[in-house]
Amino acid sequence: MENGRFVVFEGLDGSGKTTQMARIQHRLTRMGIDTVTTCEPTDGPVGSLIRQMLAGRIPIDPRTLAALFAADRTDHLVTPDTGVEALVNKGRTVLCDRYYFSSYAYHAKDMDLDWIITLNTVNAKILKPDLTLFIDVAPDTCLERIRAGRNRLDMFEKIDILTRVRDHYFAAFERLRDQETVVVVDGNASEDAVEQSIWHHVCQWVTPLAQ
Ligand code: TYD
Repeated sequence: MENGRFVVFEGLDGSGKTTQMARIQHRLTRMGIDTVTTCEPTDGPVGSLIRQMLAGRIPIDPRTLAALFAADRTDHLVTPDTGVEALVNKGRTVLCDRYYFSSYAYHAKDMDLDWIITLNTVNAKILKPDLTLFIDVAPDTCLERIRAGRNRLDMFEKIDILTRVRDHYFAAFERLRDQETVVVVDGNASEDAVEQSIWHHVCQWVTPLAQ
């Protein structure tokens, strides 16, 4: 049996990854491709610890946080039966909301990119995505979408952070351009138009499974 594909959705908070991932899962399933969705941080033991840290409930050093994300990722990959590696080996296609490029983008404000890449070497050895889709949305649009769901935000500070994260994503894509398959999709258009352009790329990498 042929292995399933591993497709990662990346983007800033508010870029619409989760919505688009659900739409693509729907399309693939309709074509008869057995597709599951998952995300990082996970809801496993390490992921739960990370979420408490992100919520500010536990103080954390940025290096420790980056290492925990890498550990959560390994756990996500190798958990027997339900881990991403096991699913792909069983022929299932896995769509994942964030993977190691999130670490390269979100932790590069505190640490050197090469250090974070090294930290994730074990994960890249276990499973590289067949395709990483970056949904590129302007930071101020992301911020507006986040604000629509929450009460209070420091606008300038947040735009500044999102802009830096976006820059770090592109620095990482450039740094790994010979090793990774990354497609940048313009995510500023309507949900339908974004879905259509993502689908165009997914077709090239995933749908041969249906034939
Ligand atoms: P996520 O659950 O995608 O956020 P959302 O609340 O938008 O659904 O991710 C939570 C946060 O974790 C997000 O701000 C990005 C951050 N993150 C890292 O800092 N490093 C990582 O390796 C990953 C996977 C996520």
